Amino acid sequence: MTSPSATTAPDDSRQPPVRGGTQPLLLQKGHELQPFGTVKQLPIGLSYDARMYGCQRLNRLLADTQMLYGLYKKHHWLLRGATFYQLHLLLDKHAVEQLAIVDALAERVQSLGGVAVGDARHAAEITQVPRPPDGVEEVPAMLSRLLQAHETILIDARDAATRLAALGDDGSNDLIVSSVIRNGETQAWFLAEHLVDTPLTRI
Ligand SMILES: [Fe+2]
Repeated sequence: MTSPSATTAPDDSRQPPVRGGTQPLLLQKGHELQPFGTVKQLPIGLSYDARMYGCQRLNRLLADTQMLYGLYKKHHWLLRGATFYQLHLLLDKHAVEQLAIVDALAERVQSLGGVAVGDARHAAEITQVPRPPDGVEEVPAMLSRLLQAHETILIDARDAATRLAALGDDGSNDLIVSSVIRNGETQAWFLAEHLVDTPLTRI
């Protein structure tokens, strides 16, 4: 019989469960309380159909924005070259702003009675943003990839905002216009200006 090593978890299976006191009741299991894709009734004056449709559109934007956030961090880390420091800081600033949008979109889904896409693997399954290579691309390709992700989101966001306003969901419309679209357009502008070939000196 081998003695347990320092890296082996202790076998507590034969220990009687401790009740009361300050012992945490670990490894608890539970049923799924609300399936993804459903909405519960909340007293906010919006129809079931409007809230269901809003959650679908918001969750798609949420998944795409999670992917955009991941792309910003990936490229923040993998950048190289003479513009490393400037772009390293800029991409991280954009990532922080996108993460705030992720949180706002998720909480809007919850406030409509839905279930927000919360797992990165789930987001990856439903996103429209293409997967980048696992390795390192050239910097102009990284910036172009980010711009394409922004445009994908902006096109979907404008359509969603218009349709949700028509259904009376002004709150989702406002969030999408004021956060997703306005921030996305500004970030795309900052990125695109880095793809202009402007030498510092001329011969
Ligand atoms: Fe960092």
